[in-house]
Amino acid sequence: MEFSIKVGGPEKQKTACAVVGVFDARKLSDAAKAIDQASGGHLASVLKHGDLDGKLGATLLLHKVPNVACERVLLVGLGKAAEFHDKQYRDAVRAAVKALNETGAAEAVLYLTELPVKRHDAAWKVEQAAVVARDALYRFDQLKSKQDAARPLKRLGFNLAGRGDVRAGEQGLSRGKAVADAMQLAKDLGNMPGNLCTPSHLAERARKLGKSHGLAVEVLEQAAIEKLGMGSFLSVAKGSRQPPKFIIVQHKGGNKKDKPVVLVGKGITFDAGGISLKPAGEMDEMKYDMSGAASVLATMQAVAELKLPLNVVALIPTCENLPDGAANKPGDIVTSMSGQTIEVLNTDAEGRLILCDALTYAERFEPAAVVDVATLTGACVIALGHVATGLLANNDALAHELARAGEAAYDRVWQMPLWDDYQEQLKSNFADMANIGGRPAGTITAAAFLSRFAEKYHWAHLDIAGTAWRSGKDKGSTGRPVPLLVHFLLGRAGG
Ligand code: BES
Ligand code: MN
Ligand code: ZN
Repeated sequence: MEFSIKVGGPEKQKTACAVVGVFDARKLSDAAKAIDQASGGHLASVLKHGDLDGKLGATLLLHKVPNVACERVLLVGLGKAAEFHDKQYRDAVRAAVKALNETGAAEAVLYLTELPVKRHDAAWKVEQAAVVARDALYRFDQLKSKQDAARPLKRLGFNLAGRGDVRAGEQGLSRGKAVADAMQLAKDLGNMPGNLCTPSHLAERARKLGKSHGLAVEVLEQAAIEKLGMGSFLSVAKGSRQPPKFIIVQHKGGNKKDKPVVLVGKGITFDAGGISLKPAGEMDEMKYDMSGAASVLATMQAVAELKLPLNVVALIPTCENLPDGAANKPGDIVTSMSGQTIEVLNTDAEGRLILCDALTYAERFEPAAVVDVATLTGACVIALGHVATGLLANNDALAHELARAGEAAYDRVWQMPLWDDYQEQLKSNFADMANIGGRPAGTITAAAFLSRFAEKYHWAHLDIAGTAWRSGKDKGSTGRPVPLLVHFLLGRAGG
């Protein structure tokens, strides 16, 4: 879908469909008023018949509205004017795009982008509209023998209230496109099944991205990983016939001496649990256990597209976690790259075992900050549901920076404590630490484990177990936390 910025009244807009909002109790938005006036009260009279009352997300398509230049008008319910905030704005755009796509119009102009949204400017509104529109029409049908019919909606214009907003709108549009493209990449990788999206496939995709977007890509094979002493990472890979890979992607947009931001993504392409086997129900969802890797890779694409003047490094340890004669066994003790030994009390707590070695590897970049992204704990889904990503950090400024970026991107996080008191739960009688801390505070003890490998730099951990995908009838990857990561890096690049 192509996007553009428009200005000018809706009644004069030559388009297949003008999309205007109606608040609760049939209160017309400014754009709806303009159409109503030009058409001699046509909208008011339609609404009087009760076809649309303004409930948020309701839509009504009108043909042949008199005295206007557009072929159709799509009315979209906005709910109560006093309660029209960021969530309501996004819901209205989503409903509009879904309805538009049913009309058969190849092109439309959205006037919802003119509506005032508390605390947000034109750049934000346009960015969000582009991201939500692309998200609403996303589907993953490449593995069906017959692809679904092509989407009719090809071009979408975003109207802004005045010329003064155009610059901000254009900036929002370039961000929105970069974020939407990156989310699509993350979703495609996440939705791809484990038999196709293997560690080798991820490495191949990273190499391709390097070529298309001018990123430096290096893939370390098993022998090189052994040489580095990543005994913890390799212990997880042992149970699989797919060779592990350690992928390094670099964007060199800053000065040579600028310390890079390092992103680390968990790349378990399938998590059966290993010898501590997971139950069969919904185990298919563990193909999403590489969503951290996917979002980090996708973020690199956006960073390159936006040409951010920053140095950014992505580190992706990737392998499968399967039961096998050669797999990790409960009680096994492995030696991490840092030299610290780990008693593997549960082979299903494998994410931290591959991340810890990547965190140690990150030291060589002398990073300005390290952010790891992982579908790490079921406990995080219980704590925060599917709304907020779990955030834990060893540095408060970094935590706040991420929280602000999440607000700006509408891809929010919620911080949990990382007090030393939790470290006691990781005590092992036989090694430096155990890889699990019991049932209480499962998300925090997982982060507490990782923190032992992140002592040399400012570090934050994002647990995306609840936010990276949806289960149930709308099962699928969400592309989160790509918007958050892109905004975090935009902030680091000076806005
Ligand atoms: N990949 C899972 C976490 C997960 C579970 C993500 C459910 C999304 C939905 C992770 O590797 C895992 O199995 N974690 C265990 C840790 C436990 C053994 C300490 C968990 O959360 O049950
Ligand atoms: Mn697991
Ligand atoms: Zn896992």
